[in-house]
Amino acid sequence: MREDSPFGDFLDNLAGYRNVDIILDRILLRSRELCLAEAGTIFLLEGEDLIFAYTHNDRLFPVENAYRHIYAGTRLPLSHDSLAGHCALTRKALNIPNVRRIPKIAPYSFNDAFDKKSGFRTVSMLMIPMLKRGGGLLGVMQLINAQGDTGRVRSFSPRMERLTGLLTKEAAQTLENSRDRQQSLRRLLRVLHLHDPSESGKHAERTAALAVLLYYQWAQKQGQDAEQMRRYADELHPAVLLHDLGKIGVRPELLGKPATLTETESVALAEHCRLGAELMADAGNELSELARDTALLHHQRWDQGGPDIPLCARLAAIADAFDALVRPRAHAAALALDDAAALIRNQAGQAFDPELAECLGEMQDVIEKIYQRFEEE
Ligand SMILES: [Fe+2]
Ligand SMILES: [Fe+2]
Repeated sequence: MREDSPFGDFLDNLAGYRNVDIILDRILLRSRELCLAEAGTIFLLEGEDLIFAYTHNDRLFPVENAYRHIYAGTRLPLSHDSLAGHCALTRKALNIPNVRRIPKIAPYSFNDAFDKKSGFRTVSMLMIPMLKRGGGLLGVMQLINAQGDTGRVRSFSPRMERLTGLLTKEAAQTLENSRDRQQSLRRLLRVLHLHDPSESGKHAERTAALAVLLYYQWAQKQGQDAEQMRRYADELHPAVLLHDLGKIGVRPELLGKPATLTETESVALAEHCRLGAELMADAGNELSELARDTALLHHQRWDQGGPDIPLCARLAAIADAFDALVRPRAHAAALALDDAAALIRNQAGQAFDPELAECLGEMQDVIEKIYQRFEEE
């Protein structure tokens, strides 16, 4: 079937990724190319809400910086009031030539809050429902401002509507698989939470998000190739998400304890690295070598290994330590986000990779968004 598709090469490339964010980025970019759309956003269904999941906006930021906006986090209730909500509920495309001329009798209206805040001007919009094979709703893609020949905004043509509809339909399976995979990983975190109630799973989410964005920040400065960056991030995210999984093999009374462990207890706790690495080694090809290295070495100091420590473990070490500093602990007050970043930078070249520690200081905006998105209850 794929041979018949006008999107064959695109779909083959897409199927090589497993990370939801990367898959959304690819789908959004290809859809925007089809329509010459200036901007676009994908919302995914989470419970009863549509969650803002990915966005591009050529007017406001370069596409290679889109990762900085992943966690910007708007939540829309699934209702007919919003354009995305209406599209989600009817599961039909919605093509609006001019959002400021929506008839009063329409159930939905255009929310101009984002335009007002950013100075962007939305004119035409195309909303495409993203459905699973079985018909269930995955989310909604909204494309904004189709560009005409003269650079003026035009409306989305029926052909654009048909092509993006076909593309999202054919890409749905890959997206659905990646969402399922994400759910399985989160299920493992819930198992860990049952064993260690001090660990909600949010620490793992924040550490993984932080490590990936820190990686992008660093890799961009190195001038790394975008495809190569995506491939690495695709494996890095699940690896860091499961960095503490070995705690499942540590006695519960040692976990979530203040820093008054005896020497023997500390050694027992440190075992979670080796145990985690063993778990990953068994996982076959589903989880990569990165997951094993990350579990084994995420507490390794820079001055005890330097560049010989795999990059994934150096990234996880900073993200993990940062998150420990900013959460309230039994033996110390939580630090403000910028104080924690400063403290990490003070340890550059000692506990942490100096290049990565410096990159952390350049990410204040995205760090704040991550902490809003994965707030502790
Ligand atoms: Fe750990
Ligand atoms: Fe950790």
